[in-house]
Amino acid sequence: MKHVWEGKEIILGVTGSIATYKAVEILRELTGRGANVTVVMTESAQRFVAPLTFETLSRRPVLTDLFTLDYNKHIGHVAAGERADLLLVAPTTANTIAKFAHGLADDFLSNLYLSTTCPVLLAPAMDREMYAHRAVQENLALLKARGVHTLDPEYGELASGLIGRGRLADLSTILQIVEDLLGRQQDLTGETVLVTAGPTQEPLDPVRYLSNRSTGKMGFAIAQAARDRGAHVMVVSGPTSLATPAGVLRTDVTTAEEMYQAVLERLDTTTILIMAAAVADYRPSTRAPQKMKKQETITIELLRNPDILAEAGRQKGSRVLVGFAAETEDLLENAREKLQKKHLDLIVANDIRVGFAGETTRVTMLDRQGRVEELPELSKREVAHRILDRVVVLRRGEHA
Ligand code: CTP
Repeated sequence: MKHVWEGKEIILGVTGSIATYKAVEILRELTGRGANVTVVMTESAQRFVAPLTFETLSRRPVLTDLFTLDYNKHIGHVAAGERADLLLVAPTTANTIAKFAHGLADDFLSNLYLSTTCPVLLAPAMDREMYAHRAVQENLALLKARGVHTLDPEYGELASGLIGRGRLADLSTILQIVEDLLGRQQDLTGETVLVTAGPTQEPLDPVRYLSNRSTGKMGFAIAQAARDRGAHVMVVSGPTSLATPAGVLRTDVTTAEEMYQAVLERLDTTTILIMAAAVADYRPSTRAPQKMKKQETITIELLRNPDILAEAGRQKGSRVLVGFAAETEDLLENAREKLQKKHLDLIVANDIRVGFAGETTRVTMLDRQGRVEELPELSKREVAHRILDRVVVLRRGEHA
């Protein structure tokens, strides 16, 4: 995997903690593997380890001060963020986590974080009680929801003498995740990925609609992962409360018919279509212009919605098509049938009895060659990458 590291631009953010000295070893390992590393230190980090150590080992100036930029030696936070392949912050303090989560920008590192679109990996290290505090956990949850990668601290003896979770993740774990993130980055360059996400809402009257429990998390995770791997990414999303990952072009729709239009309009330029949306199969045959009044019984006639994926399958060309199948019974059999009927390359089947709206999911992938891959319960981010790993192979026409 050496090629993964060579020439990669990594920004190593170092914040102030007892674990700050461990960043020196991380830097040595990163440069030793062939990466170019620019170190950014917070003020408190400099109280623990002198910038000179990092400067010497990285053979680059250490970026510390937002206001005294000497452009001959230093680069501004925007330029640094633009050329980075990865921002790794190790160790990450509770303070920096809070700043990132809430968009505070009062030093070089926090400004850089806000201005970069590259993948971000945080390796928190702090005292047990601090890490367990709801404020820290909620800030981390916020960041994760926006696609920031975070490593759980390790369990063990802490500087305070207490035993608990708070130690900086193991060096080999950090390096492994960095390698995964770097390695995945380039393999969708040149592709245009269209992802649909979320539910659709089918109005009954001005205030009511038919819909489902989809949150859009899976689709947005795929969009973000595809962007991280170098693709140009468009999302057509039903109603969700999710933020758009930076660099992703988003179109919001409400109904299945609107989604159908939006997807078909973008099909020409799409090389990979991933239909993660939970499209409502039916819509009310009429939309009452006024709010419907109570009655003892009411009959609603439903019409079939157009099948977006089936239509994309009819116009397939050389495009890679990925569908989802949410099942409660006969998972594989139903998924296989959908794969064939809609001319898909890959179908991702999830047993929704395991859960639907959470942060994790358990899926089985089936491809048109009949290969079946059952994944364990994983984060949606990880599942997104596993799907894209398969898409890359399918796109190349390889059948590994
Ligand atoms: N899909 C679509 N247009 C629809 C309905 C579904 O593009 N009108 C897509 C979904 O985004 C998903 C796949 O097709 O990728 C799901 O196929 P579908 O046959 O609708 O399966 P389910 O609704 O899960 O199951 P069932 O056939 O049992 O209703």
